[in-house]
Amino acid sequence: MLRLLLLCGALGCGAGSDAAPLTFIMLQWTQVSKGSSVFWGNATLGGRLSHILEDHNVTQVLPLEPPAVWAQQRDMVANYLSYFSGIVQVFSKERPLNYTQILHCRLGCCLFPNGTAHSFYEVSLNGTAFLTFRVPTATWELRWPRRDPVATFAQRELMKYSETTHNLQHFLNTTCVDILRAQNPQTGKQRGRSHAPLVLGLILGVSAVVGMAVGIFLCTGGSC
Ligand SMILES: *[C@@H]1O[C@H](CO)[C@@H](O)[C@H](O)[C@H]1NC(C)=O
Ligand SMILES: *[C@@H]1O[C@H](CO)[C@@H](O)[C@H](O)[C@H]1NC(C)=O
Ligand SMILES: *[C@@H]1O[C@H](CO)[C@@H](O)[C@H](O)[C@H]1NC(C)=O
Ligand SMILES: *[C@@H]1O[C@H](CO)[C@@H](O)[C@H](O)[C@H]1NC(C)=O
Ligand SMILES: *[C@@H]1O[C@H](CO)[C@@H](O)[C@H](O)[C@H]1NC(C)=O
Ligand SMILES: *[C@@H]1O[C@H](CO)[C@@H](O)[C@H](O)[C@H]1NC(C)=O
Repeated sequence: MLRLLLLCGALGCGAGSDAAPLTFIMLQWTQVSKGSSVFWGNATLGGRLSHILEDHNVTQVLPLEPPAVWAQQRDMVANYLSYFSGIVQVFSKERPLNYTQILHCRLGCCLFPNGTAHSFYEVSLNGTAFLTFRVPTATWELRWPRRDPVATFAQRELMKYSETTHNLQHFLNTTCVDILRAQNPQTGKQRGRSHAPLVLGLILGVSAVVGMAVGIFLCTGGSC
């Protein structure tokens, strides 16, 4: 499934042999099982591992941000993930679920040698394509193969917070692409070294998942 998604992404970026784009990709998994949540994932910049997420712990592998700045952001992520786990625990006490759900997010952007950029955010649930974020319109689109009240509810929940969708749009369309431009001055106007908060993407990725997970919990527990 992952290989398939990566293939889709590569096609989405139009990766040809002569015009290979520079990419930043974040992969993130959230497993919710019997009231507990586990997170893992990583990010790659130009094919090199740049970040690792293990449980509540995010590590910067490439020195993209100064240590003091990074330490603050790392704490933000840890707090956020703890908060998320807490919510899931509360929900599952109210409506116990004894099965496992895995949400997988794949988000990022690519920059072609001619300066054109492309961004993407795809979510799958239990290995099936679930939602896609359309950057130009800042909207979530349903990919779920069946008409399903859970999927419809989750999409509606995500669309409720326009601040989040606009932040996400900005992150994917601007912050992400600036990171790539800062790596390679030839592929666009040099804007100086990017100090864009990379971690923002992780947080937005996870915050989208919170809305979704809460929606899924509410729905699978009975009423939407
Ligand atoms: C990122 O994580 C996935 C899943 O754990 C793994 O399959 C993949 O090899 C990792 N990528 C890198 C560059 O380490
Ligand atoms: C988080 O990562 C840091 C740096 O790699 C490590 O020192 C620390 O022990 C980790 N904490 C947990 C709870 O895994
Ligand atoms: C949970 O497990 C019990 C038995 O262990 C089963 O009867 C029940 O249907 C399960 N509930 C769900 C929602 O899967
Ligand atoms: C995900 O998979 C589990 C176990 O296979 C299943 O019980 C659950 O309903 C699935 N979730 C959705 C939204 O289909
Ligand atoms: C830039 O290159 C990509 C991939 O080769 C192509 O899809 C896109 O149309 C090009 N854009 C321009 C403005 O030439
Ligand atoms: C995305 O960025 C491009 C150039 O960087 C800009 O022209 C475009 O308006 C932006 N789109 C949105 C939806 O923000």
